[in-house]
Amino acid sequence: MALKDIQEEIIRLKKENDICLLAHCYQSPDILEVADFVGDSFALSLSASKVTNKTVIMCGVRFMAETVKILSPDKKVILANADAGCPMAEMMDKELIEQVKEQYPDYTVVAYVNTTSELKTVCDVCVTSSSALKICRSLDSDKILFIPDKNLGSYIAEQIPEKEFKLLSGGCPTHARIGMAEVKKAKEAHPDALFLVHPECVPEVVAQADYVGSTTGIMDFAKKSDAKEFIIGTENSIVSHLQLACPDKKFYPLSKDLVCHNMKLTTIVDVLNCVKGIGGEEIELDEDVRLGAKRCIDKMIELG
Ligand code: 13P
Ligand code: SF4
Repeated sequence: MALKDIQEEIIRLKKENDICLLAHCYQSPDILEVADFVGDSFALSLSASKVTNKTVIMCGVRFMAETVKILSPDKKVILANADAGCPMAEMMDKELIEQVKEQYPDYTVVAYVNTTSELKTVCDVCVTSSSALKICRSLDSDKILFIPDKNLGSYIAEQIPEKEFKLLSGGCPTHARIGMAEVKKAKEAHPDALFLVHPECVPEVVAQADYVGSTTGIMDFAKKSDAKEFIIGTENSIVSHLQLACPDKKFYPLSKDLVCHNMKLTTIVDVLNCVKGIGGEEIELDEDVRLGAKRCIDKMIELG
């Protein structure tokens, strides 16, 4: 089947079966073209709470599909590729955080949304890269235990020096492996380019940025900017999306290694199988876990 025919079939079956297709912006262009909503983690969480269709298919990673189920328990929620997980979300479990909380009893536990539903049950509030700053600022508490992303936590802590942060040593393996050598090389090759960076990168890299933000934050900045050249310090799919959206500007990857293989697992054929009802994995959550995690997601939406 040609790509165009697959996409037409997906669109037809979505309508026939009352399906909403959500896609994270790291997904490939053929998937984004048939999605009903494309966004960063925060925007996907918001849309998950508003969707009216009886089935939702998530093209992204597992914690994103779980967030949809947490907010919409009566919907059938399907993760388009059952193997698509986020390694950062699996780095810390509930038992570890319960132990850490004993050491810091008076700290508010802020969890990046890239965590399991079970872990969220022992946290106070979730954040995403685009909402973390606003939420950490607006919390009453001035003592914050930020988990699991040390890099995002350091960036937020630096912006809010009046609050005390405790960080643990988790992070995104894709963003965190890029260092100063790549920054130097990219800046030397493109001296006129603005440098746009995701806060999951290490602090030395983030310190070199002209703009720091989430995936959609980076895209919005590049689209609105008068500059003509940009080095993109996040997953490389954003380089191609931006090049397509702004053909008169130039976009360079910070490194060819900035590829999230987990986000790349989902294919247009997976999506076709899901809308046919023969693919993906239906997300099921224990009701106690769902309600415990929902507290943190609801708070994120309220404060974000
Ligand atoms: P955002 O979508 O919040 O920018 O996060 C990127 C990411 O790594 C998703 O897992
Ligand atoms: Fe997880 Fe990093 Fe991939 Fe995002 S880019 S899904 S944080 S591994």
